Amino acid sequence: MQFPKNFLWGGAIAANQAEGAYLSDGKGLSSVDLIPSGSTRRAVMKGDLSHYEPLPELTYPSHDAIDFYHRYKEDIALFAEMGFKALRLSISWARIFPNGDEEQPNEQGLKFYDDVFDELLTYGIEPVVTMAHFDVPVHLVEHYGSWRNRKMVTFFEQYVKTIVSRYHSKVRYWMTFNEINMLFHLPYMGAGLVFVEGENRQQIQYQAAHHQLVASARAVEIAHTINSDLQVGCMLAAAMTYPYTCNPDDVEKAMERDRENFFFIDVQARGAYPGYALRQLKDAGIEIQMEPGDIELLRNHTVDFIGFSYYSSRCISTDPEILNKMTAGNVFPTVKNPYLNQSEWGWTIDPKGLRLTANQLYDRYQLPLFIVENGLGAFDELDGEGNIQDDYRIAYLTDHIRAMYESIQDGVELIGYTSWGCIDLVSASSGEYAKRYGYIYVDRHDDGSGTNRRQKKASFDWYKKVIASNGAFIENQKHIKIK
Ligand code: BG6
Repeated sequence: MQFPKNFLWGGAIAANQAEGAYLSDGKGLSSVDLIPSGSTRRAVMKGDLSHYEPLPELTYPSHDAIDFYHRYKEDIALFAEMGFKALRLSISWARIFPNGDEEQPNEQGLKFYDDVFDELLTYGIEPVVTMAHFDVPVHLVEHYGSWRNRKMVTFFEQYVKTIVSRYHSKVRYWMTFNEINMLFHLPYMGAGLVFVEGENRQQIQYQAAHHQLVASARAVEIAHTINSDLQVGCMLAAAMTYPYTCNPDDVEKAMERDRENFFFIDVQARGAYPGYALRQLKDAGIEIQMEPGDIELLRNHTVDFIGFSYYSSRCISTDPEILNKMTAGNVFPTVKNPYLNQSEWGWTIDPKGLRLTANQLYDRYQLPLFIVENGLGAFDELDGEGNIQDDYRIAYLTDHIRAMYESIQDGVELIGYTSWGCIDLVSASSGEYAKRYGYIYVDRHDDGSGTNRRQKKASFDWYKKVIASNGAFIENQKHIKIK
């Protein structure tokens, strides 16, 4: 089970879920800094926000996160010990442009990422950078309406020019918007959209999507102009949707569900709005305002690779009774698949789905793929000796790496694999610390207690062996049952 030479093994984190230090060194408030933990979290993520500063009675997990801002050297040393070839991380837009509409960037913010990239490069770890991972400066949300406003394209261009010119000699792999399809599911989290009662949300979401697609194409153009060696990708929350039965109605529904997500990537990778989307927009009476030159821009500046996250497959039915049996799953509504188990958070566990999804994406786009998120969110407990035996995580990852290997044998071009939350961090959907993905445990808890101390889990040494053997170690590994 040897993976291709130069395969980028590593892990992934995001600024808002790891850094903390939410107002340090000139950083402005980010949209995600207003997403509280607790019962109102979901409503805010969907666009129900009435205030533009944190409320004292609420807790906001992004404010402290796991303090990567101050501990990045220790954390990167641990990643290096595991043998990481790549670390996927994001730049916080509000660290660089605190309000988002300034002419000059914040030098302290730029310096922080210079230091982080230098630290990674010292160990030979390739930084893979997401330009926007669920964050927009709050000033742009409050005063411009975020991505519903065309002006965002200009602000984003300025941000992209700044970061790419500064870091192009250190960062070769870039992605524009994390899980761009999240805009349709959690519009505030995905795109900083806040709605008022009575608005046509669908119209606003499609218009915002158009602005992000234009901004993404401009980012590709800017990056290639600054340095033609740069590789710029898109990023999709991917997962194949299975029809619950072979009833053609179920199959049609599954196709439609898949297309809701492919819509974005079809534009970013193929360079044009697909026919099915044009029909859907027409049927729904939605008209997207475009500016002269948009169509050419989208056509001429498509992405170099497809980055995607994969946690679970999805399943859908047209039968109302079956639709009552829904389960969670990275906010994408999905029917409980009777053939598969779920994680402790109700996310379907389906390694074969990764092979199917990778093949589906490659068949459709014929571009290199990069699995930039995958992993098992689970409760981890210290045993009597103070160790964390996360065999269930090893089992999940083993099965998914096997599936990934199968997809390479199928002919899929795969650049790398950066598993999600290589160090425990804050969960995006639930805001919890308790939902852990890491090879490294962080002593930090939902009640605010904890020292932030880092500790290796059993999966730490396991992943080290996987990377050192370029995957071969998995071949002889015994099957472990997931808890
Ligand atoms: C993806 C996001 O949706 O899934 C990450 O890009 C997120 O930011 C990850 O953390 C896992 O989801 P969760 O909700 O378990 O943190």
